[in-house]
Amino acid sequence: MFADRILSGMRPTGSLHLGHYHGVLKNWIRMQHEYECLFFVADWHALTTHYDTPEVIEQSVWDMVIDWLAAGVDPARATLFIQSRVPEHAELHLLLSMITPLGWLERVPTYKDQQEKLSSRDLATYGFLGYPLLMSADILVYRATQVPVGEDQIPHLEFTREMARRFNHLYGREAGFEEKAEAAVKKLGSKKARLYQELRNRFQEQGDDEALESAKALLDAQQSLSLGDRERLFGYLEGGGKMILSEPQAMLTVASKMPGLDGQKMSKSYNNTIALREDEASVAKKIRTMPTDPARIRRTDPGDPAKCPVWALHQVYSDESTKQSVVQGCTSAGIGCIECKQPVIDAVLFEQRPMRERAQMYLDDPALVRNIIADGNEKARKLAGETMRDVREAMGLSYA
Ligand code: TRP
Ligand code: SF4
Repeated sequence: MFADRILSGMRPTGSLHLGHYHGVLKNWIRMQHEYECLFFVADWHALTTHYDTPEVIEQSVWDMVIDWLAAGVDPARATLFIQSRVPEHAELHLLLSMITPLGWLERVPTYKDQQEKLSSRDLATYGFLGYPLLMSADILVYRATQVPVGEDQIPHLEFTREMARRFNHLYGREAGFEEKAEAAVKKLGSKKARLYQELRNRFQEQGDDEALESAKALLDAQQSLSLGDRERLFGYLEGGGKMILSEPQAMLTVASKMPGLDGQKMSKSYNNTIALREDEASVAKKIRTMPTDPARIRRTDPGDPAKCPVWALHQVYSDESTKQSVVQGCTSAGIGCIECKQPVIDAVLFEQRPMRERAQMYLDDPALVRNIIADGNEKARKLAGETMRDVREAMGLSYA
């Protein structure tokens, strides 16, 4: 078993492009070899901003899953599912909403920002305000330990951690906690149990933070403990109750610098994208018609790569010797722009070839994708169900 569980979601609001590939999917593909990974289609999230165009979401869901698979996300390694097929996200969202101070939501920086940025949409809605809480529920319902996020999502992670703490503080005491914790200590084995008690005492009596850290490391290394006991022991260390929801760590991913066709960051809103599995002729045409250094009007005018969007793509796709010959050829007017663009066209097509092939397999047999998602939904529900059992019990909702 993996000790870490990674969770990430993506909104289905249009088809994916090479910016998504270089910025997000390559990360996912790397992580699926190192961690237990859960990746989901955040369709409810998409509705928080696109509630008036549900057809866009509906269309994008399956295309997006095919894009993931095409890029190399491996359903044998990662669990892929659709948020709305796991109603536990909604249940946790609702239950957490009972204890969420409004001020916490209003203070999330993206709230006002996005409302202003997307001013063409009416985002003075309950759902949009609650969006960070829905994200918290997504994360906490799986007790994810790590969430890969860009800089802009850090406040959401911090909010999630605060929600977990608040929940544990309010509901974390279970009947007979001390006895259960003591019993869990015994299960560590006599040597480790003694060490745990000693470290716990040192922390509780002398506030020794190093002792606390050592005790946590000791628990981290205990693979055989049940999840419940693990959390009791973590809770017992600091004197609190049982940790029912666990605080995730942000795994900061470097923002993609993937340049678009015009030199700005590749983004749907700039209309400068190459789709992940765009057809070959269209890719070639888009690159061939890219703007270049505006000072290079005639073939005989020397140019400056620093002022050329094509050069930005060479940075992503070309090896040193190609880059050298571009600089040399451009600044001396030794090569033409069409010639300069060819290696970029070749490299993009080369990168996309396996993606197109994999996608074709799924397009030819749509049942394949449905089955992958059906499996993923089921696995996700099982994990989410375990957390919800504890949450309901802690909130006094397990009557039956
Ligand atoms: N907020 C993310 C975005 O807009 C998507 C998302 C929703 C997410 N829930 C999540 C990401 C949970 C990571 C974990 O891109
Ligand atoms: Fe840009 Fe290449 Fe033309 Fe120079 S030669 S302006 S780098 S496309």
